[in-house]
Amino acid sequence: MQGIRLHSRDGIDAMVLEEFDLPAPGTGEAQIAVHAAGVNFGDTLMVTGQYQEKPDLPFSPGMEAAGEVIALGAGVDNVSVGDRVMGSIGYGGFAEAANVPAANLTPVPDDMDWATAAAFPVAYGTSHVALTYRSHLKSGEVLLVHGAAGGVGLTAVELGKAMGATVIATAGSDDKVALARDYGADYGINYSSEDIREKVLKYTGGADVIYDPVGGDAFKASLRCINFEGRIIVIGFASGDIPKIPTNYPLVKCFTVDGFVWGAYHRKKVAVIHEGYAGLQKIWATGALKPHISKRYPLANTADAMRFLLARKSTGKVVIETRE
Ligand SMILES: NC(=O)c1ccc[n+]([C@@H]2O[C@H](COP(=O)([O-])OP(=O)(O)OC[C@H]3O[C@@H](n4cnc5c(N)ncnc54)[C@H](OP(=O)(O)O)[C@@H]3O)[C@@H](O)[C@H]2O)c1
Repeated sequence: MQGIRLHSRDGIDAMVLEEFDLPAPGTGEAQIAVHAAGVNFGDTLMVTGQYQEKPDLPFSPGMEAAGEVIALGAGVDNVSVGDRVMGSIGYGGFAEAANVPAANLTPVPDDMDWATAAAFPVAYGTSHVALTYRSHLKSGEVLLVHGAAGGVGLTAVELGKAMGATVIATAGSDDKVALARDYGADYGINYSSEDIREKVLKYTGGADVIYDPVGGDAFKASLRCINFEGRIIVIGFASGDIPKIPTNYPLVKCFTVDGFVWGAYHRKKVAVIHEGYAGLQKIWATGALKPHISKRYPLANTADAMRFLLARKSTGKVVIETRE
C-alpha cells in the first residue's frame, strides 16, 4: 500500500509518498481502507514534533479520516468489517489504509459522502462539545466566533445558529467574513481593519460565549467585550500568540475562561465524544449542516494541502482523497 510517511520530524518538506506494509491491527484497533482524510492545523504541528502526540518514526500523519473497516484487532466489538466509519484517529490518515483506535470511530451517515465524512469529526465534534458540554450556550445568547471562516470556526458559526444563538463572526478578510455570514452569522467583523470590541459593543452590547481558535489580539479583545457571567472557550492559537490573562478581568466582570481539547476527551472521557456525535447525527439529519470543503488534493499532494492551510488560503476544511 501507499502512504505519506515521515522518517524524521523535519516538517512538511520531509514527507514522502512511499510503499510500505501495514501490520495487522493490534488489540483495540480497526484497520480501515481510508477513502478521505481531513487536514488539520494540528497535522502541521505533528510533522515538526510540536504537537503533544509524537508517534514513533517512521509514521504517516493524518489525524482524521473516513473509510471502510477491512479488519479487526482483538477486543473490538463496536464496529464490524464493512462498516463505513469516520473519526479522530491520532495519526495515519494520509495513507491508503490505517490501523486506528476503534473506540474513536463513529458511523458515517448513509447520505454523507467520503470527503464530507473526512471533514466532519474534528471540526464539528470540537465545536459541538465546546459549545454544549463546556460552554452551555443557550438559545438567545450572543456567541462571538473568532477565525470564523476556518475549519473549526465555521462549524461553530453553523452550530451556534442551530442552537438559537445570535452569532458574530470575526475573520481576517472581507471574503472570509462574507463566507461566515453565508453560513448564518448575524454580524461580521474583519479584524484586519475593524476593532473587535467596538463592533461587538455596537452590534449586541457584548458577547455571552466566545469561541476562540485564534488567540493573540482576538483573545485580548474578548476580555473587553465579554458579558457578565460570560464564558470564553479557548480552542487554539492559530495566530501563534498564546495570550496571558490579567486575573482581575474575570474577577471584576464575573466571567470564566475554559479550555477544551478534543483529543484529551478521547483519552479521558470518550463517552462525551460519542454523546457529541449522537447530537451531531441528529442535527445532520435535519439538513442544517453544510460542511464546507475549500479544496481537495490527491494523496501525492498532501504537502501542498498542508501549505495551503498554513498560508491562510483555506476556508472551512481541506481534504485528501486517497482513492482517485
Ligand atoms: N481544542 C481542540 O480540540 C482543537 C480542535 C481543532 C483545532 N484546534 C486548534 O484550532 C486552531 C484552528 O484550527 P483549524 O483546523 O480550524 O485551522 P484553520 O482551518 O487553518 O483555521 C485557522 C483560522 O485562524 C485564523 N488565523 C489567524 N491568524 C492566523 C495565522 N497566523 N496563521 C494561520 N491562521 C490564522 C485564520 O483565519 P483568518 O485568516 O480569517 O484570520 C484561519 O481561518 C488551531 O490552533 C488548532 O490547533 C483545536
